[in-house]
Amino acid sequence: MATPRLRLRKQALEDAPVFRHLWTERDERVPAHRRIDADGRPDLDDIRAHIRDAEGSSLLTVERIDTGESIGYCGLVYGGDGVGDEPELAFELLRTEHNRGYATEAARAVLDWAVRAGFDRVWAGVWEWNLASRRVLEKLGFIESGRERPSSDHGRNILTVRTLSAGGKSTP
Ligand SMILES: CC(C)(COP(=O)(O)OP(=O)(O)OC[C@H]1O[C@@H](n2cnc3c(N)ncnc32)[C@H](O)[C@@H]1OP(=O)(O)O)[C@@H](O)C(=O)NCCC(=O)NCCS
Repeated sequence: MATPRLRLRKQALEDAPVFRHLWTERDERVPAHRRIDADGRPDLDDIRAHIRDAEGSSLLTVERIDTGESIGYCGLVYGGDGVGDEPELAFELLRTEHNRGYATEAARAVLDWAVRAGFDRVWAGVWEWNLASRRVLEKLGFIESGRERPSSDHGRNILTVRTLSAGGKSTP
């Protein structure tokens, strides 16, 4: 998949350093199991193994077309709490690439793919404190679903949803 500035492609083992960098940059309010532990795990080998296991995953590596560099991932995940068989949108980009509209641009391409794949809705869970992500979801037309995910020490997790128009583009 491509957008004017980005290429979205299958994950490759060569993405491991970028993916590990994303782990190191995560906000301290992100749950511990999603952060590097005291032993430095996951390390590059762990991440490579994860990429191998995720063969066929709908989480795609996001690459800048102008530099050819990988800058993060965007895509769909399945099996999340409260969303049944419908997919959930996920995205994460290197900090150096933030606030240039890349996440929104990548996610629009993913939503267009979801329309073509015949999904009626895509969900997205977001921490209440994650204002950048909430803004991206707002720009994409996601609204609060009214369904709650359990709150935790990490704050309130808001479950948002985007209805996809049948036979059309995802843009509202
Ligand atoms: C969320 C994330 C992917 C956004 O990527 P991005 O490429 O910077 O997103 P965009 O540039 O498309 O849009 C960011 C928007 O958030 C806004 N924003 C950024 N920081 C903000 C803040 N602290 N408060 C309010 N708005 C903020 C930007 O101004 C921009 O909105 P605008 O276009 O109206 O100006 C990126 O911040 C990230 O990787 N965060 C860590 C991982 C993460 O939180 N993933 C999502 C989990 S639900």
